[in-house]
Amino acid sequence: MRIVITGAQGQLGTELRQVLRGHQLTALDLPDFDLTNPDCGGTIVAAAPEVVIHAGAHTDVDGAERNPALAMAVNADGTERVARAAAQVGARLIYISTDYVFDGEGTRPYVETDRTNPVSAYGASKCEGEQRAMACCENVLVIRTAWLYGLQGKNFVKTMLQLAAERPCLKVVADQRGCPTFAEDLAGMIGQLVTHPVRGVLHVTNEGHCTWHEFATEIVRLSGHRVPVDPITTADMPRPAKRPAYSVLSAERLHHLGLRMPSWQDGLKRFMKALPAPSSPVL
Ligand SMILES: NC(=O)c1ccc[n+]([C@@H]2O[C@H](COP(=O)([O-])OP(=O)(O)OC[C@H]3O[C@@H](n4cnc5c(N)ncnc54)[C@H](OP(=O)(O)O)[C@@H]3O)[C@@H](O)[C@H]2O)c1
Repeated sequence: MRIVITGAQGQLGTELRQVLRGHQLTALDLPDFDLTNPDCGGTIVAAAPEVVIHAGAHTDVDGAERNPALAMAVNADGTERVARAAAQVGARLIYISTDYVFDGEGTRPYVETDRTNPVSAYGASKCEGEQRAMACCENVLVIRTAWLYGLQGKNFVKTMLQLAAERPCLKVVADQRGCPTFAEDLAGMIGQLVTHPVRGVLHVTNEGHCTWHEFATEIVRLSGHRVPVDPITTADMPRPAKRPAYSVLSAERLHHLGLRMPSWQDGLKRFMKALPAPSSPVL
């Protein structure tokens, strides 16, 4: 199958290239492929793909709050360009979206049909991206995922491991709940969905949920560091962008398709095993 991947150098894109290596891949990313370039769709059309997996995005949540126009340009306008190109060549579009399209006021896992109401510029730009994807391309699957971490790039798990090695104590927010997701597991599921006829919106995260504090506690425990992890509130750690307090995504629709993701604890264990050992200090 001919498949285009945008954001191919990112956390998810890197895993997608690995999972889909048996296909005819066109891997696109900055600097050669820029979603803000009005002509970027031409690169996709030229590859004549059967499937376009659009993982490229401006993912800096606090940065987007400072520069919402850039977030919109990449995540909404860029997605429209990708969707129009996919439609032009009759390709199926798989757009990767986020739990941050929800406001987090809910108290039970969000299902795909729940009302979106983003509370950050990043969430708003991704939500607009969903609308544009569905408006510009008929054959679309929007996959909402959450709290993504992979071997490539920066993420919460790597930050916690670094801080656990450097600091006597960690302080982590305990009043935001979500679904940590290992990029390798998500890529594996997308690998299955590439040949599945499902359309519309689909929530895909590792199974189960936790707070950032519970997640950090498990990371530190698995790492063997003996640093205490203290719970704090969101108010104790002001950030430019507001985050949803509760953004657990329901796996019900995925289960109805006969598919299931591993638990977040299992994903984390395999991620930690796959991490390269820290280099020994040179004496
Ligand atoms: N990370 C999360 O926690 C999370 C949670 C839910 C959903 N998602 C969604 O999942 C998808 C994959 O996320 P990820 O964590 O793999 O993100 P990532 O590691 O930041 O990868 C995104 C890729 O897109 C590229 N990109 C940024 N601006 C671009 C532009 N103007 N033109 C073309 N490419 C551009 C980035 O390049 P640079 O690195 O050079 O900027 C990067 O290689 C994204 O759509 C994201 O919104 C992520």
